[in-house]
Amino acid sequence: MKKANRVTAPALAPGQVEYEFGIPIPGVILPKESWAHTAIKRLPEAGPIDWSAVFGRDAPLCLDIGCGNGRFTLASGVSRPDWNHVAIDSLPTVIRYATRRANQRGLANTRFLAIDGWRLLHDFSSDQAWSEIHIYHPQPYADPRMESRRMLTPDFLYLIHRRLKDRGRLFVQTDRAAYWNYMNTVLEQVFEWEPISSEWPDEPEFRSRREIQARKQGLKIYRGIATRRSDWSDSQLLETIAQLPQPRFKV
Ligand SMILES: C[S@@+](CC[C@H](N)C(=O)[O-])C[C@H]1O[C@@H](n2cnc3c(N)ncnc32)[C@H](O)[C@@H]1O
Repeated sequence: MKKANRVTAPALAPGQVEYEFGIPIPGVILPKESWAHTAIKRLPEAGPIDWSAVFGRDAPLCLDIGCGNGRFTLASGVSRPDWNHVAIDSLPTVIRYATRRANQRGLANTRFLAIDGWRLLHDFSSDQAWSEIHIYHPQPYADPRMESRRMLTPDFLYLIHRRLKDRGRLFVQTDRAAYWNYMNTVLEQVFEWEPISSEWPDEPEFRSRREIQARKQGLKIYRGIATRRSDWSDSQLLETIAQLPQPRFKV
């Protein structure tokens, strides 16, 4: 019997634009000699990561938590060369895809790391380190037994508030109405909260892989920006956090 041909991904030529669900992946593939090295494979033994040393320059820092295949960070890395970008996901496989794409596009202003969001912010970040934190489509965990894994808990919001720079911004997006209702309730109590009723005013149009999938399924996309308050003491913040509900809802 004739052996079936093995299907392999087509080799990408320099100058080529890559597509995902028919939407271009930002950036252009460069010749190999111009590729970047964007993987962070080793963490310091303890304490905050010195990102200025990692990037070899001081620049505002943007963090993408649960970055999946990295579409947002690739786009932001291309459109904002004057920012340093860090993208993390707890799943090493997706980080490998994202890293490879950033390398091929020569995005020296991006770094990718397989790590849990809580661990990065709690153990490896100092207070007021990040200018922007982005969380696109955090997993909703429909199974009630998995509810406790939801990322946006009051404790996590407290940590994010501390780790953001003064007036730093948290960008969130989801296609789950129940998660959105929770976000709306808690974010307005902790941050200056601005739900965005239209599309993001800036590029790129599709911020993430999950957004493309959700929109193809006809799902509504919910978005908002939470700005760190500058007028609160830590004890005021803790008091507010202690009164927030846990993310328990049906999706
Ligand atoms: C639904 S996907 C969304 C991926 C991407 N942001 C997007 O919109 O296409 C959620 C991602 O968050 C990651 N994730 C879940 N919990 C995490 C955590 N605590 N820390 C870091 N990543 C996490 C998952 O591995 C998964 O890749």
